[in-house]
Amino acid sequence: MSDTLVLPMFANMHCHLRQGVMLRNVLPHSAAHDGIILPMPNTDPHIANHVDVSMYFVEILNELTSLGHEETELLMTIKMTDDTTPEEIEQVAEQGIFGVKVYPEGKDSAGRELTTGASHGLTDFFAPRAIECFAMMAKHGLKLLLHGELPEADERYAEAYFIPTLLRLHELFLDLQISVEHVSCEAMVAAIKRLPSHIVGTVTPQHLLFTRAEMLSNPHLKCKPTIKTVFDRNALWSEVAVGNPKFLWGPDCAPHPRAAKEKPWEEAANGCFSAPIQPELLATKFSERHLEERLADFTSGFACRRYGLTVPKGTITLVREPLKVEQEYGGVVPIM
Ligand code: DOR
Ligand code: ZN
Repeated sequence: MSDTLVLPMFANMHCHLRQGVMLRNVLPHSAAHDGIILPMPNTDPHIANHVDVSMYFVEILNELTSLGHEETELLMTIKMTDDTTPEEIEQVAEQGIFGVKVYPEGKDSAGRELTTGASHGLTDFFAPRAIECFAMMAKHGLKLLLHGELPEADERYAEAYFIPTLLRLHELFLDLQISVEHVSCEAMVAAIKRLPSHIVGTVTPQHLLFTRAEMLSNPHLKCKPTIKTVFDRNALWSEVAVGNPKFLWGPDCAPHPRAAKEKPWEEAANGCFSAPIQPELLATKFSERHLEERLADFTSGFACRRYGLTVPKGTITLVREPLKVEQEYGGVVPIM
């Protein structure tokens, strides 16, 4: 970096804002640098339909307005379950929502849910009703946002085992725009690269910048999908480094109270909180690799071009100085 680096505000294609008190705690950090935010629908209870999503939109917009950030673009989503109907998909499409998030239903070998807010996921991607829903999404241009893991599989391979499902979905719905969220392994990177341009992946700081060893010794880095090997991390870096427009910034900032994270490993909540430090962290790491010129495309350009969004007009100015990280932000501990 020269002394300062000016970037367009980010297009954050994967963000957990939660609701109520936690929303008010974390939103200022994202709103400070994100011009576009895609809030995930795995709230408790989850955002299931057109009524929920309207109410959630208003809740977030009210908070943004009180922060003076009402210009932030919200890309709203609902969560698809076995109960979701094609009529509901059509209704939310007419309402102008961006996409539909799917968590595969299932438990791991210890009987735990796939990740935070994943229960009541989709049991069978190829059940007749699910097929009708995907067809409706394709018809209306709704994006399918996939948590791409096979719940029953060993966490190290759970994403790779999901690839056949991704390929079959693509074959059945050639026009369906699919985003594989929080890509974590080389095999999924390779699968996405081979598919057409409307099949993309999102990239998080935890999977791009941290190691499995760091995760295993720090519950604040515990997330799903888990952080894989250095080989997998390098595969992600390679795509980011060459400026592959199929890999979009989707940090998956997922706040949990400190007490829910600082527990024995198996019980610690999944989710990494990064919002307060995202721009500085990325700029530092891209700068170390002499990749600053790739940052703006990665953090906003690719997503905006892919989805026909307007690049945020606001800018972020980063000053070259050591990264400042607080111990916690309103009781939530950041990665680092
Ligand atoms: O680590 C994760 N945390 N992965 C997810 O998919 C959900 C998220 C959360 O909501 O906390
Ligand atoms: Zn997420």
